[in-house]
Amino acid sequence: MNVNLSGRDFLKLLDYSKEEIVYLLGLAKALKEKKQNHEPHNYLKGKNVVLLFEKDSTRTRCAFEVGAMDLGMGVTYLGPTGSQMGKKESIADTAQVLSRMYDGIEYRGFEQSVIEELAKNSSVPVWNGLTNEFHPTQMLADILTMQENIGDLRGKKLVFLGDARNNVARSLMVICSKLGINFACCAPKELFPDEELVKTCEEFAKNEGSTILLTEDVVRGVKNADAVYTDVWLSMGEDSSLWEQRIKLLKPYQVNKEVMSYANPNAIFLHCLPSFHDTNTTIGKEISEKFGIDEMEVTNEVFTSKCSKVMDQAENRLHTIKAVMYATLKDE
Ligand code: CP
Ligand code: NVA
Repeated sequence: MNVNLSGRDFLKLLDYSKEEIVYLLGLAKALKEKKQNHEPHNYLKGKNVVLLFEKDSTRTRCAFEVGAMDLGMGVTYLGPTGSQMGKKESIADTAQVLSRMYDGIEYRGFEQSVIEELAKNSSVPVWNGLTNEFHPTQMLADILTMQENIGDLRGKKLVFLGDARNNVARSLMVICSKLGINFACCAPKELFPDEELVKTCEEFAKNEGSTILLTEDVVRGVKNADAVYTDVWLSMGEDSSLWEQRIKLLKPYQVNKEVMSYANPNAIFLHCLPSFHDTNTTIGKEISEKFGIDEMEVTNEVFTSKCSKVMDQAENRLHTIKAVMYATLKDE
């Protein structure tokens, strides 16, 4: 396959063709094998990357840091406080300054428009580590995990249950439709993804001979699914006063044993994490005390069951993010 991503940004999957996505997945698989075989792959020795996080992170930050170090690069982390960005220095100025020092810039923050602005003013590749609208590196890990567990994904079905307007659901719809995977989302109508993106994805799906289904009916949505996916009911940056309303709206869409029984017998469970599947977190405990609910988007039973591939997914963040950095930073 003749794909060259050198110098490219990775801002959203809409910007990438099917062939380019397939190439990144193949590269991730090869890099995973190297890591597992303890084969050195410090191909980008001498380069440096900067990671800008305006929101919290465990997986994404660690995957970028370890990925960069495995590739032989130096890494700087800048958190929500401590840099001049946004407060005393515009995004455009920050992008130009960082481009003079680094070979690549990762950004996690709020509006997609901010990362687009950053990329416009940067002379080095910019990678999206999550915005309100998209979470494209997550989807590469999700699809790699599906390939490892299911095999060829053409004609298979993934269903997302929960807040289908969020970054994860929207990005899943894009990647599934580009790769010819049937996509369903199960949510109350007010939490369906926006029509414009649905229309765009329907075109991709049509080209690939796959389908997109938006439904409020859990049985219909989950029927014949090979992968059942959910995410938190309230995303980072949303106001905590929304919890009560969101719990009411999304409780019927919780992934539990009964929901899994509607899917194909060998269906896997996926979640980008972090997850509220018990009360062993500060927020999980607060919600339990306030609303009397101990498990939210997924029950602990499903989360810890054999069909749950969430830790494979988390590990695959490393290999796929490494692939994105390598593909966009290597010489042509
Ligand atoms: N899935 C994911 O992006 O996790 P973090 O928020 O921990 O990076
Ligand atoms: N939708 C979630 C994803 C976290 C990885 C959020 O934005 O908080």
